[in-house]
Amino acid sequence: MFEAFWNFLNRVSDSDGVYVGERRRELALSNKSYVTEYHPCVRVKPVARWEWRRSKGEFAVDFSSEANPHVNISGMSGFGKSTLCKRLIKEIRESLHLPVSIFDVHSEYVDFTRQFGGEVHSPKESSINMWELDGVSPAERISENAAMLKRILKLGDIQAYSLMTCAERAYEKRGIRQNEKDSWAEEPPAMRDVYDCIAESMGGKGSSRQSYAGLSKRLYPLLMSNVFSAKTTLPFRRILEGLNDFSMAELGSSEAQALFIETFLRKLYSYMLSQKLADGIRLFVVIDEAHRVCISEGEELSLPGRLVSEGRKYGVGIITSNQMAKNLDRAIIANSAVTFAFYQREPQECEYMASLIAGGTDNERREVVRSKIRNLRQFECIALTSVAREPLLVEVMPLWRET
Ligand SMILES: Nc1ncnc2c1ncn2[C@@H]1O[C@H](COP(=O)(O)OP(=O)(O)OP(=O)(O)O)[C@@H](O)[C@H]1O
Ligand SMILES: [Mg+2]
Repeated sequence: MFEAFWNFLNRVSDSDGVYVGERRRELALSNKSYVTEYHPCVRVKPVARWEWRRSKGEFAVDFSSEANPHVNISGMSGFGKSTLCKRLIKEIRESLHLPVSIFDVHSEYVDFTRQFGGEVHSPKESSINMWELDGVSPAERISENAAMLKRILKLGDIQAYSLMTCAERAYEKRGIRQNEKDSWAEEPPAMRDVYDCIAESMGGKGSSRQSYAGLSKRLYPLLMSNVFSAKTTLPFRRILEGLNDFSMAELGSSEAQALFIETFLRKLYSYMLSQKLADGIRLFVVIDEAHRVCISEGEELSLPGRLVSEGRKYGVGIITSNQMAKNLDRAIIANSAVTFAFYQREPQECEYMASLIAGGTDNERREVVRSKIRNLRQFECIALTSVAREPLLVEVMPLWRET
């Protein structure tokens, strides 16, 4: 009873850190003595070994000391990734008083968001238009969107080129021309307008007809809901103030969800620049099930991947969670200052996480970490930060155990 009260007092005074859970063990080099020879006499020698030494106290992440404000959480299904995300969101709101936006792929944060006084946005009610210029020229917007759609929808080179010509036509139909700067203020086209231009081009002959038909088939699912076919209605000012959940299950495909997230982040950043809000951390973004929606291709990173690689520059901290790190942008895993690894069974994945956490070339150290990852219990994880000397075994405190 007294201990619980003391812990509570400590937490109230420790306002810099974002509380995660309780420290249970720490990776440490022990110098135990072992018998190394029996003959002619017993000889005892100290041998250095890596071990998980008992550790006590609270574990909190101090984002002001970390190399960047990005967090990656990996682990097998059901071991506590979303539980940790919810803990981090609550603590970021309460200790750092920063806004948090959740990209909710399975719409599983709806009740949680409402419980903490946040706002839930559904694609039925909000829309986002990726073709709005937001301060760049039509040519720049077309080439940026074509590259994004090519990467996410896995379009071929010819399809991407056809998309660019149709998008140019869609702008022209709205009276917007690259070399007439005054025309850039006109109402921009939306996804439906670009799609209609593609449909018009399908009347041609031969291989170009096939390319347009293929393109229209790839873009068609984006028209299922109106989310991409109307003016942007997302209230960025409010998003930069509180807790917001973008419940995206209704969007259906991972591609549509990825396009929503990337367009949102890009627009948010231009809004922050226009409001001169880009220094310091202004917002945390949570992407649960990130392996579904952070879609990179070869050297080309997803936008969340690019933001994570750029460190603190954008003023947005990105928290990603995924079942398998190897299915996610390597840039996200490699550049997140804070990593949490939950239980993992898949051998390659286990090996990868062990190497990431152990670092260096010490095989024994890696083996000790690897075997711990295979023995973690539900809600236990290995935490590695850019400021801590060694990895820690932390037990995450689920929110429901508090009530
Ligand atoms: N409110 C609650 N009360 C009791 N148990 C809960 C509650 N919410 C979640 N759990 C349990 O916590 C466990 C971990 O759930 P969590 O959603 O954090 O896993 P996860 O790692 O995110 O899995 P996935 O990859 O499938 O999303 C589950 O077994 C779930 O049943
Ligand atoms: Mg989950």
